[in-house]
Amino acid sequence: MSFDFYKLLHFLGIFMVFSALGGQIVQSLNGGDAKQMPGRKWMAIFHGLGLLIVLVAGFGMIAKAGYGFPGWVIGKLVVWVALGGIGAVAARKRNLAVLIWVVVLLLGFIAAYLAHYKP
Ligand code: HEM
Repeated sequence: MSFDFYKLLHFLGIFMVFSALGGQIVQSLNGGDAKQMPGRKWMAIFHGLGLLIVLVAGFGMIAKAGYGFPGWVIGKLVVWVALGGIGAVAARKRNLAVLIWVVVLLLGFIAAYLAHYKP
């Protein structure tokens, strides 16, 4: 696969992760017993599968371009781990859900910044 195709896959994974997190946060804001909600399963599937696609496509691009392991890549891995855990925090800390939403957006911005400018 080409670098460009990996990048498109990377974006597909990103769309899955962020749409799932949006669902998770809205559910947290609305309240109720999350275990009773049928949409929860799909949220978990798109979140998990999206994270996997983001990671595999990210490393695909690194391999194709021969970037190695510079600081910005490590920063992106930190963002990836944070986006993996933050949905569970949103589910438990309902009073912080809006703040977590903003943090999710900032994490996306940071990840894009790191990839684009490679500081
Ligand atoms: C969910 C977290 C992530 C988000 C939101 C994200 C976002 C982005 C975005 C928006 C771009 C396009 C930048 C541009 O074309 O200017 C990009 C490119 C890239 N990302 Fe990620 N990314 C994430 C995680 C990762 C991870 C974990 C890795 C490494 C394993 C990674 C490696 C890369 C690479 C190598 C590029 C291409 C940079 C280039 O065009 O030279 N990303 N990412």
